[in-house]
Amino acid sequence: MRIDIITVLPELLKSPFEASILKRAIDKGLVEVHLHNLRDYTDNSYNQVDDYQFGGGAGMVMMIEPIDKCISQLKSQRNYDEVIYMTPDGSTLNQKMANSLSLLENIIILCGHYKGVDQRVRDLLITKEISIGDYVLSGGELGAAVLCDTIIRLLPGVLNDETSALTDSFQDGLLAPPVYTRPAEYKGVKVPEILLSGNFGKIEQWREEKALERTEKLRPDLLQ
Ligand code: ADE
Repeated sequence: MRIDIITVLPELLKSPFEASILKRAIDKGLVEVHLHNLRDYTDNSYNQVDDYQFGGGAGMVMMIEPIDKCISQLKSQRNYDEVIYMTPDGSTLNQKMANSLSLLENIIILCGHYKGVDQRVRDLLITKEISIGDYVLSGGELGAAVLCDTIIRLLPGVLNDETSALTDSFQDGLLAPPVYTRPAEYKGVKVPEILLSGNFGKIEQWREEKALERTEKLRPDLLQ
């Protein structure tokens, strides 16, 4: 998979890809992530990417021209399955969306700033709009990092134990069951007996029950 991220703040997006699972995925060649500084696609002397909004009002708007130039250049080199715009008014990211995006070959992610982008960018260039939640970030970069993390960890070969993404919360529409490790007893609090029994059929059944119990208690909306 290849992910091209268009941003005015590439430095904000570097570190998530330089550590841990994402770095390993890149080093193993399982994913390519390319950051593109939108200011490199301006032809004014101030490298200006935004301007006042028509009709007046507070806040600057990102101009279509540099965005179009950058996206067109990328599209001239390969086909893209989706051109995603990170915005608080997009569809809220969930596991199902991450699963389907992880099957794609090439995607572009555009990070918004200021009051957002000229509507013509959204009408003409964007194929999907994604929000990471009902709150406003100062830019789309942290949202893009979240989106990339959730997609990349699903790519085959990225996690050491390939089944572990399958047992994540949400993968079967439920929250994950509780997990324990050594010691079997800590300050008088014991690990549930069943987990030490070696009876894997019973353990699986217990986990399913706990997953359901937890979901009913913490996220009943997932069961509706
Ligand atoms: N940009 C600003 N707020 C955002 C959000 N909640 N999700 C994605 N991109 C954003």
